[in-house]
Amino acid sequence: MDLMETIKGRRSIRKYKPDPVSEEAMRMLIEAVRWSPSWANTQCWEVIIVKDPEIKSELATALPKTNPALSSMTEAPLVIVLCGKKGVAGFKKGEAATVKGDWLMFDTGIAMQTFCLTAHSMGLGTVVVGLFDHKKVEEILGVPQNAEVVAMTPLGYPATEGIAPKRKEPSEFVFYEKYTGR
Ligand SMILES: Cc1cc2nc3c(=O)[nH]c(=O)nc-3n(C[C@H](O)[C@H](O)[C@H](O)COP(=O)(O)O)c2cc1C
Repeated sequence: MDLMETIKGRRSIRKYKPDPVSEEAMRMLIEAVRWSPSWANTQCWEVIIVKDPEIKSELATALPKTNPALSSMTEAPLVIVLCGKKGVAGFKKGEAATVKGDWLMFDTGIAMQTFCLTAHSMGLGTVVVGLFDHKKVEEILGVPQNAEVVAMTPLGYPATEGIAPKRKEPSEFVFYEKYTGR
């Protein structure tokens, strides 16, 4: 698949077939994450692959009932939980190198996008899930204090195509030479 076609064709998938995801496919997805860029190549990301239906159901209880991705958490054969090691990205000798502090959200965000695009190029569906009780998920999965859960995605073969929500026009977010937005 051509890169632009992959970028534009990827959709958030909230309905999944029960068909399993092969170990080979999972290996390829992890390989894609592995080659994501990161702050000083610190690679703060950590990935938890959840297949156990009981744990998936527990994870689903951390989502508000109004979250449109709720049913996909148990419907998809796998749930991928993206975590980040704290105090690594954006730090030099233990000190934050910029006013932004921890770049964990940024680096795990890139890793998640790499994961989702690769999955799409392989015919697999994903939906980034960010609206949930993070503390609850950390407890369920036994995530230690020095790491945190950032986002999750169900992973499996799409049962629907998904509709592309409208995008802003470049003129609404691209400025030349100086910031001219509002
Ligand atoms: C950081 C982040 C958090 C998101 N959280 C949720 C979520 O909790 N539930 C959900 O159904 N979709 C969630 N989404 C998916 C967005 O709604 C979706 O990407 C957006 O509407 C654009 O649609 P598209 O992915 O099909 O292009 C999230 C996306 C991102 C990037």
